[in-house]
Amino acid sequence: MEQRKPLFIANWKMNKLAQEVGAFVPKFNELTNIFSSKCEMVLAPVSVYLPKLVELTASTPIQVAAQNCGASKSGAFTGEVSPVMLKELGVHWVILGHSERRHVFKEDDALVNARLKAALEEGLIPVFCVGEKLEERKSGETFSVIERQLKGLKDISENNLKGLTIAYEPVWAIGTGENATPAQAQEVHAFIRQWLAKNISSTFANRTRILYGGSVKADNSAQLMAMGDVDGLLVGGASLDPLSFGDIVKRGLNS
Ligand code: 13P
Repeated sequence: MEQRKPLFIANWKMNKLAQEVGAFVPKFNELTNIFSSKCEMVLAPVSVYLPKLVELTASTPIQVAAQNCGASKSGAFTGEVSPVMLKELGVHWVILGHSERRHVFKEDDALVNARLKAALEEGLIPVFCVGEKLEERKSGETFSVIERQLKGLKDISENNLKGLTIAYEPVWAIGTGENATPAQAQEVHAFIRQWLAKNISSTFANRTRILYGGSVKADNSAQLMAMGDVDGLLVGGASLDPLSFGDIVKRGLNS
């Protein structure tokens, strides 16, 4: 089996002003520099601070992600930022299909898939998010929801999917303080990997990183990372503070 390098992503959502973005980087870099050969670390600020963050992280091992991207290269799409523009800025990663995009902003599978294709065409690394709502879990629909969200990947050639990262974020665990148990996360991650093996290829399934997100904190990161199919963490609230996110990385790697 191929070695999958642990990956830790901070999703800052609509938080932090310029000064806070500036203060985070040197502190976080100082705390995590010693682990940088063992993992990848990515920060996702709001789009207006992407250029600033690219500049601040230039001489560090820290990488930068956008929180979404447009489905076209350019055009009449008010409010959107195209993947070409992200690439021009020096941004290499993009989060797509986050549950807040799907459920608060009503992005459906077709739109998320169109964004995914556009991002892959520009050579960005997508962090493709999937996850079920509480009522879907309660009614035993978790796997069918995940399967429906993954389905669009079948329309993209394996070669073009290169670099794809998947994040399992159960909607009921996001910002609620109630994380999935390590066993619950592992069960869904294993399901996703099997789906990838069956529908793309086993090589692809073995090398694709699957992250867990939803109420990750320093005191649950090691248990989650100890699961065989959990390759990294996508962290919201607990990533806003450099000490806390640094601790998540540190404890996650010691698992
Ligand atoms: P929390 O870590 O705040 O639950 O958010 C998770 C998330 O949505 C990361 O993308």
